[in-house]
Amino acid sequence: MLKRVNDISLTLNGERVMVGAEPGERLSESLRERLGARDVKIGCNAGDCGACTVLVDGAPVCACLMTTQQAAGCAVETAAGLSRGDPHARALAERFQDHGAAQCGFCTPGMVVAAVALLRENDAPDEAQIEGALAGVLCRCTGYRAIVDAVAAVPGSLAGAGAVGDSIRRLDGADKLTGAERFGDDIAPPGTLTIRVIRSPHARAAFEFGDLERWRAGRSGIEAVLTADDIPGENRFGVIPQFADQPVFAQSIARFRGEAIAAVVGEPQAIDDLAPADFPVTWTPLDAVAEPAPAREPGAPLLHDDRADNVMCEGFVRCGDAKAALARADVVATGAFATAFVEHAYLEPEAGFAEVVDGRVEIHVCTQAPVMDLESMALILGRDKRDVRIVPSGCGGGFGSKLDLSIQPYLALGALKTGRPVRLALTRTESMQSTTKRHPATIALKIGATKDGRLCGFDFEGDFNTGAYASWGPTVANRVPVHASGPYRIADYRALARGVHTHCPPSGAFRGFGVPQSAIAQETLFDDLAAQLGMDPLDFRLANVLEDGERTVCGQVFEQGVGIRACLEALRPAWESERAAAETFNAAATGPLRRGVGIASGWYGCGNTSLPNPSTIRAGIAADGTVHLHQGAADIGQGANTVIAQIFATALGVKATDLRLVGPDTDVTPDAGKTSASRQTFVSGNAARLCGEALRAKLIRHVNAAPDATLTMTDGAIRFTDATGTHSVDLSAMMADSDGYVIKAKATYDPPTKPLNADGQGIPYAQFGYAAQVAVLEVDTALGTVRPLKFIAAHDVGRAINPMLVTGQIHGGIAQGLGMALMEEYVPGRTENLHDYLIPTIGDIPPIESIIVEVPDAHGPYGAKGLGEHVLIPTAPAILNAIRHACGVRMTRVPVTPSRLAAALRERDGG
Ligand code: FES
Ligand code: FES
Repeated sequence: MLKRVNDISLTLNGERVMVGAEPGERLSESLRERLGARDVKIGCNAGDCGACTVLVDGAPVCACLMTTQQAAGCAVETAAGLSRGDPHARALAERFQDHGAAQCGFCTPGMVVAAVALLRENDAPDEAQIEGALAGVLCRCTGYRAIVDAVAAVPGSLAGAGAVGDSIRRLDGADKLTGAERFGDDIAPPGTLTIRVIRSPHARAAFEFGDLERWRAGRSGIEAVLTADDIPGENRFGVIPQFADQPVFAQSIARFRGEAIAAVVGEPQAIDDLAPADFPVTWTPLDAVAEPAPAREPGAPLLHDDRADNVMCEGFVRCGDAKAALARADVVATGAFATAFVEHAYLEPEAGFAEVVDGRVEIHVCTQAPVMDLESMALILGRDKRDVRIVPSGCGGGFGSKLDLSIQPYLALGALKTGRPVRLALTRTESMQSTTKRHPATIALKIGATKDGRLCGFDFEGDFNTGAYASWGPTVANRVPVHASGPYRIADYRALARGVHTHCPPSGAFRGFGVPQSAIAQETLFDDLAAQLGMDPLDFRLANVLEDGERTVCGQVFEQGVGIRACLEALRPAWESERAAAETFNAAATGPLRRGVGIASGWYGCGNTSLPNPSTIRAGIAADGTVHLHQGAADIGQGANTVIAQIFATALGVKATDLRLVGPDTDVTPDAGKTSASRQTFVSGNAARLCGEALRAKLIRHVNAAPDATLTMTDGAIRFTDATGTHSVDLSAMMADSDGYVIKAKATYDPPTKPLNADGQGIPYAQFGYAAQVAVLEVDTALGTVRPLKFIAAHDVGRAINPMLVTGQIHGGIAQGLGMALMEEYVPGRTENLHDYLIPTIGDIPPIESIIVEVPDAHGPYGAKGLGEHVLIPTAPAILNAIRHACGVRMTRVPVTPSRLAAALRERDGG
């Protein structure tokens, strides 16, 4: 229990309350933990993210920066209270949903509170006023433009009743607006113990524990200390079984700063009072390697004894003879490129709670991969999988990192050891120190072309810093060579990617699995080649795009569905007008500002690379006529709950809004695989389509209606109408099963792929999605700053299941690509918070024009292709190409910070 020191009176959402708070206690802490206002979210506890924004006497404040004493006597309003009584909040709730302005929803309560404060002052704010008012609230999902439109009351573009192709609101959207959605740190029952994880302060160090039991016994409220000795099963986990190498608790040596070595479980106050420096451990720092080049040197410390030269694995693709083709090319472009660690920076740090129920361990947690979590936890706990249950909470963003285990083992071990529910929410710094990142890459690339503008030889070699443990490094190493060509026809090709261990946090999955890094190199050199040939960069790309019936670098031939030409052609009007406008601007410029317009493209194979990755969906109809869709795909903000329901509803012939969504929960939903690799719309969507069709076929057989009969559901009655009349399904005459369903169906879909041979030839994916973007920006050549002015993005999604959600993905992806290009660089020990690690704010994102291209794919549900990763692949290279267009400087290292660009400009000028 928290210590009650002072009773403080304040008004919370119109009600007078008394709250006991310690001196200096954060208002956010009192609101959440003492007054139950869990709609106040905590993203940083440092004033950086704005998720905790509340109104105090009408003024927006970060509740984490204000003490409860400071709020004494004040009127405090939170999103939940505003949504009940404030007309602006109620209107915003509708408009946010109309625009898809809440994706994961974690930032949304703070965003709505800040917007209400603005609208109370000014009910018709302009864009600049909106950006000013919301500048203190970060959103990692939406790219902000939909939020601006919602606050500005721009009319939304909803259409239809929920069939495939309809822009409907998110089915799970309403709770995101009121703060009612329960995220990982919102769900623990009262009286729950908490955990402090003890982590290495060193990149590499040997360590020894003192007398842990004596230390524990000497501290009131500390219930248990957990170390590797407390793990009943394997002290090892990993997302790829043959590479599982990460310990839950390091033993005798820590391999990265932030690695867990122990955990302390206790009453909240005892854990709060704990000074990690008091923990009985002795450290001996050791030499560490932070980058692949020194890590591969002879004599470098080996992170894993069985991985020579610290090389975890290699991916390789070869076709034709790259060397010979480059030798006969008329022009050749070469480059060496470097990218940084990029932090996912989802607004919700990892959080959850666990308890033991009837001997089973139940873990409630924000996750992208509930079944993978369950399988890993069963191994760690040495239990049968049936003895573990994963119940995903709301997930405040993931982008790849919440595919890996983070807090789950500590929660489960704590609950088992103490027999009580335990809770853990990582601090922002812990989250940034210990969870996966985008791989930094160093890439050497050489590409040739002939005088007629055809690609002639492509030789790629890249080292990807995979950190201390494998995580998704093997996936990155294998994906990159398959994708490094971009969606282009290249007969003579060689690509090698290595995952190299260093004493850094593990790199893992982050939107694109290495492809955004390789696209920077490839698309930059394409502009080099176009310049050498005197060709327009768009025309050069169009001269080389893959078409239906042509071989990819893996020898795969798609007879249909190749949409890159359509994407690039869709950009031509904007490309030509923006290039001309920029050149006119620059010709007249007398000051330091120069405008540039760049283009880049991308492609992305949906689903696992040459591996099975099935999804299963089931559904049932209860005797009262309600249709229940059991879908286990984690919706991390991208909209799986809505898109999969739209596909299922269309196949069955009902409205998506009539469905009851069940899950995800490993006890009640079948395995829909992980939310990753742009696979949920494609793979789980196909399972949903098959399930809907199977359920419909059963119903139709039951009443002997025509296959194309129209289904209507009213007041629990199901009727089919065909040319012969109306046929009612008598549900009351059917026997219900143990789930209460009188009729049900289940279906599985697994994309058809084939293994790659030693040269990377095979069928890695059943479908690719395609993308191209134009970036328009302004460079201040005196300061080295870059100001994006506009993006035009063309994305081939095969069939847009929900165009509003497609647009939301595009905006969010571009915002993350912009961050990668211009500002984001995680440096262990230096940028471990959202103050030093910058992500785009609302003022950084310019208008985005989305062009949805629909080249249907035969494998996709109703022709749909995946989208989640594609949306940021072209952004960074388009920005780099625009910078070059603006000021003639080719940047090869991201992020292009002002100091780096200023240095490059000085070098250009001979300074
Ligand atoms: S939690 Fe208060 S600003 Fe981030
Ligand atoms: S919707 Fe804003 S952080 Fe996810």
